[in-house]
Amino acid sequence: MTNEAQPAVAVTGASTGIGKTIALALDANGFRVFAGVRKEADGLALGREARHGLTPVLLDVTDESAIGRAVETVAAQTQGQLHGLVNNAGVGLGGPLELVPITKTRELFEVNVIGLLAATKAFLPLLRKARGRVVNIGSLAGILAMPGASSYAASKFAVEAITDSLRLELEPFGVEVTIVDPGAIESALWEKGRAQKKAIFEAAPKELMDLYAPLIEIGKRLGEQPRGMLPASRVADEVLHALTSKKPRVRYLVGPGPKKASRLARLPVRLRDSLVRRFMSSGVAHQAHKADPTERRFSA
Ligand SMILES: NC(=O)c1ccc[n+]([C@@H]2O[C@H](COP(=O)([O-])OP(=O)(O)OC[C@H]3O[C@@H](n4cnc5c(N)ncnc54)[C@H](OP(=O)(O)O)[C@@H]3O)[C@@H](O)[C@H]2O)c1
Repeated sequence: MTNEAQPAVAVTGASTGIGKTIALALDANGFRVFAGVRKEADGLALGREARHGLTPVLLDVTDESAIGRAVETVAAQTQGQLHGLVNNAGVGLGGPLELVPITKTRELFEVNVIGLLAATKAFLPLLRKARGRVVNIGSLAGILAMPGASSYAASKFAVEAITDSLRLELEPFGVEVTIVDPGAIESALWEKGRAQKKAIFEAAPKELMDLYAPLIEIGKRLGEQPRGMLPASRVADEVLHALTSKKPRVRYLVGPGPKKASRLARLPVRLRDSLVRRFMSSGVAHQAHKADPTERRFSA
């Protein structure tokens, strides 16, 4: 089934979750998929699940030589033409700024921002040749920045900015650039986030943990077990539209969360802050820190 006439698409971060679902959905819909993974075993497992012979490529977006090799592999098998690049690889990071080691923030930016730029830059000659499309995976966090998520939100706001900038920059070459912003989606990201936060909080000084206890509690309730998580196929459906529609949308909002966030983001800042504060404090069961003055900042 795999041949050079099939439109070729590269997907970064295809080992699990949203990226894996996108890669398999594109494969099922007749694309020739180059699925970026960091471990050979993940690539083999993905290849076994694919219907039409998807091609795994080793691609760590923080490793320039790995990116270069991936581009060479794709170019050699597609006559130098790539119809789509899905920039999905990403990591999470949560917790109050004072508690989060700054090295974690740097690592996050290396993947979510610099890695995305580096992969896009390296694949651009192939994308230009095919008048292809770039689809970036953003987030609700790139529309509305909540407390306790400054690093992650900053990285996803950056992805929005990159999308806006490149949309116009690449227009003369017929390369469309869109962004898909999901709300909470079922994936490994949440379990990784819980484990990461546990390690960060265990290493944090007790006085800072006490100071930020109300926000940490709210973060646990809202961020670690979000209600109404959607399946990753909802994101894959929008990516498919972005890659195949004659008129792809500029931005795809997946689920009700990003739509609400978008409306909130347009409000005057003080009004928005008060609504976010109210949202965060709604139903807070844990009132153990009532005596702590910082709690007032996070209640309605
Ligand atoms: N899940 C959600 O609720 C949600 C909501 C909004 C946006 N998003 C975004 O969706 C994207 C996918 O996340 P997910 O939920 O599917 O999480 P996930 O299951 O943890 O998948 C993350 C993927 O990124 C890969 N990755 C991490 N670091 C990488 C690197 N340096 N180079 C290349 N690949 C790397 C991982 O590969 P390894 O397996 O090798 O680590 C994995 O394939 C991310 O950009 C995330 O920010 C997720």
